[in-house]
Amino acid sequence: MHPDRASTHEGYATVHGYRLYWKSVGDPGPAGTVVALHGGPGATHDYLLSLSDLAQWGYRVVYYDQIGCGRSDLARDVNEYTIERDVEDLDALRKALGLERFHLLGSSYGGLLAIAYALAHPEPLRSLVSASGLVDVPFASREMQRLKRELPASVLDVIDRHEAAGEFQHPEYLAAVLEFYRRHVCRLPVWPAELSYSLDRMSVPKYGTMNGPNEFTIVGTIRDYDASDRLKEIRLPTLFTAGRYDEVTPAVARAMHERVRGSRLVIFDESSHTAFWEERAGYLDRLRSFLAGVP
Ligand code: ALA
Repeated sequence: MHPDRASTHEGYATVHGYRLYWKSVGDPGPAGTVVALHGGPGATHDYLLSLSDLAQWGYRVVYYDQIGCGRSDLARDVNEYTIERDVEDLDALRKALGLERFHLLGSSYGGLLAIAYALAHPEPLRSLVSASGLVDVPFASREMQRLKRELPASVLDVIDRHEAAGEFQHPEYLAAVLEFYRRHVCRLPVWPAELSYSLDRMSVPKYGTMNGPNEFTIVGTIRDYDASDRLKEIRLPTLFTAGRYDEVTPAVARAMHERVRGSRLVIFDESSHTAFWEERAGYLDRLRSFLAGVP
């Protein structure tokens, strides 16, 4: 079934006192359900919508906007924006939607969240996919800083000058940040509208609290998080993907892959952080063949 003709449902579920927006594409059938987790922390589900291609092979894909994000409610207090809360929200949402067994895919911070969920609640999971995800934030952050230092000198000068002055919203600084994003977030000359939508609506309270002013400046509450030592506990069929030019670098993906027994690693040579758009057909093909092999 072409995703444009796949049955789509959407709604709100009340989870821990807040309304979370969810959307599902495709019919639940024997192929199963894939729950997709967006990154940020603070983006929206929209930039993941190319995954709806999976509906062509009989999968149902369930998206939602995490608390504080997109069409979901803002938390009353920014201290509610934590990894633990996102884990428990996912578990409450999946119960509200009646999802008993599913594949879990997380992009970027969503990959970190997927691993945190798998460690806390492995029972409902059939498999795990980390799409440009991370688990050791200090390492991923050092890698981003390395990529930043590889920008052209003229761009780096602008970044250094404004960072020294604490001017993270200066238009000149934002233009330089975009240079980084065009190399390491999405390399397509024209960005998919869904990606622009998610980036334009990045939740200021959540991103500001947990991440920081931009992708390569992770100074928020997740900055010291590192669950690498627990990866050996994961017993699920697991796929790690990354783009060759990814801001969450292939080295980050490889380090996780080496710690999860039996996991697979696929690096997309023409991609950065959004391979599911940058190499959409190839990405979906690899993802589908991984999912098809899950018992
Ligand atoms: N800021 C990174 C993301 O996109 C980690 O989730």
